[in-house]
Amino acid sequence: PVLVFNFGSQYVQLIARRIRELGVYSQIVPYYIDPQEVERLNPYGIIFSGGPASVYQEGAPLPHPKILDLGVPILGICYGLQTIVHMLGGKVERAQKQEYGRATLRVLKEDPLFKGLPKEFEVWMSHADKVSVLPEGFVALASSENSPYAVIRHSERPIYGVQFHPEVTHTSYGKELLGNFLFEVCKAQVNWQMPDFIQHKVEEIRQTVGNSKVVCALSGGVDSTVAAVLTYKAIGDRLFCIFVDHGLLRKGESQEVEESFKKLSLPFKKVDASEYFLERLKGVENPEQKRKIIGHTFIEVFEREAKEFGAEYLLQGTLYPDVVESAGIEGAKVIKTHHNVGGLPERMNLKLLEPLRELFKDEVRKVGELLGVPENILKRHPFPGPGLAIRILGEVKKEDLEILREADYIFIEELKRWGLYDKVWQAFAVLLPVKSVGVMGDVRTYERVVGLRAVDSTDGMTADWSRLPYEFLDHVMRRIINEVKGINRVVYDISSKPPATIEWE
Ligand code: XMP
Repeated sequence: PVLVFNFGSQYVQLIARRIRELGVYSQIVPYYIDPQEVERLNPYGIIFSGGPASVYQEGAPLPHPKILDLGVPILGICYGLQTIVHMLGGKVERAQKQEYGRATLRVLKEDPLFKGLPKEFEVWMSHADKVSVLPEGFVALASSENSPYAVIRHSERPIYGVQFHPEVTHTSYGKELLGNFLFEVCKAQVNWQMPDFIQHKVEEIRQTVGNSKVVCALSGGVDSTVAAVLTYKAIGDRLFCIFVDHGLLRKGESQEVEESFKKLSLPFKKVDASEYFLERLKGVENPEQKRKIIGHTFIEVFEREAKEFGAEYLLQGTLYPDVVESAGIEGAKVIKTHHNVGGLPERMNLKLLEPLRELFKDEVRKVGELLGVPENILKRHPFPGPGLAIRILGEVKKEDLEILREADYIFIEELKRWGLYDKVWQAFAVLLPVKSVGVMGDVRTYERVVGLRAVDSTDGMTADWSRLPYEFLDHVMRRIINEVKGINRVVYDISSKPPATIEWE
C-alpha cells in the first residue's frame, strides 16, 4: 500500500482517495505508527498529511524518527513538509506573510516529480508557518511568491516535501504530481480496482442490520436519498423514511421533496415540526449553538417516530467532509459541527447507520446514478442539514425566514433560467444582521442586506467563488431589491475556501 500518515489535516481522506483514484491501494495510519509496523506493511511510499499544529510547539505531533531512515520514499504535504524539515535539522517559523488560497508555483529544478508538468502552475496553499532554513542535503525544487521552499527534496534520498496541497482539486496538476510521486519515485504498481461499492455496501447493510428495522432521516438531498435507495435495496420494507420539515427549508421545498419520494416509491412519512424547531431556536445567536440545537431536536423527533415503527437503526446520509470538519477524525480541528455528526446527543437510543461515510459528494452522485436515482435529485445543489438557520446570521426569526426564502428563490430561479445552475456547485442567499442606508423613489431606506454566494467545487472541501456574469448579478440584484420587502442592498461573496467556508455559519 501507500501509507498516509494522519497529522490531523482536513484533507487526509482526500489524499487517500486521490491515491485510490490513481489505482493504488492506500491506507490511513496514525502519525505515531511504529516503524516496525510500517516495515511489516511494506509500503511503496509514505505520505505525511498536513495538520493544524506547528512543528515548533511543545507536544506537536511528530512521527517516530526512524521512519525517515527506512529507505521508503516519503512525501510531506504542508505540515508534513515542515515535519521533515524540523526533524532533519532545518528551521520552521511563523510566516510574516501567510498564504491561503491560490498561488503560482514556479519550478526551479527538473525532477521526476514534475514529469510532464508545465514550468508554472496554480496551486492551493493553506499555511501560517513556513520553512526558513532547509536541512542539510535538501534543495528547493520549486517556489511560490511567499514560499521560496514550496517544493523540496533530499538530493540523494527519495524524501520530498510540498508546501501546497496537491490533493485538492483547485491545485492544477495536483493529481499528476501525486501520480509522479507514486509511479516515478515510489515505482508503485497499479493494484486497486474500485470495488463494487454498491454490492459491497448492500451486503454490509444486510449483515449489520440483521432482522431489525431502520428509520431514515430523509432530507430530499442527494446524500440521504442515495443512502435510502441503497438501504431499500438491501432490506426493502424494513426501511422507513421520515422527512422532517424543520421550518428551515427553502421556498416550495417541502412539497417538492414529497413528490420526489412518491415517485421513488420509498416508504416515507412527512412530519411537520417547524413550530417546535423555531421555538427552540428563539433568542439563540451563536452558530455552533444553533447547529447543536437543530441536531438535537432532529434526533428527538426521529427517536419519537422511530419508536412507533420499532426501528433500532437510524440511517443518515453522512458524507466524509461532514465527518472531517466536525473533527470525527483524530487530530482534526472542529471547523463546524455538521448537524448529522457532532450535533448528536451523547446518549442516543438509536444505532447509527451511515453507509456513505467514506464517500465524497461526487462519488455519491455516481453511486446514485448507478442506482437509478433521477437526475433532478442528483443534480440538486447541496443543502445543509440545519437549513436556512445557518444562512440567517444570528437569531432565526420567522419573518427573516420569509425574506431569505424569497431572495434565495429569485437567485436560484434566475440561475436556472440563465442556464447557470448546473455550472455552479452550490449557490444560495444569506441574510445579514445589519442594516444599511439606501434610496428608493427619492425616499431614504434603512434596511437589510442580502449576500449571494455561488461556488465552484467538486467535494466541498475547497471552493472558489463562481465568476458569474456581471449582467446576471445585476439582474438578480434588481429583482431582489424590487421584489423582496425589507432588502435594499445585495452583495456578492468573493471569498474562497479556505480561508472562508462555503456557508457563513
Ligand atoms: P462549509 O460551510 O463547511 O460547507 O464550507 C461545506 C459543504 O457542507 C455543507 N454543510 C452541511 N451539510 N449538514 C450538512 O449536511 C451541515 O450541518 C452542514 N454545514 C455545511 C455546505 O452547504 C457545503 O455544501
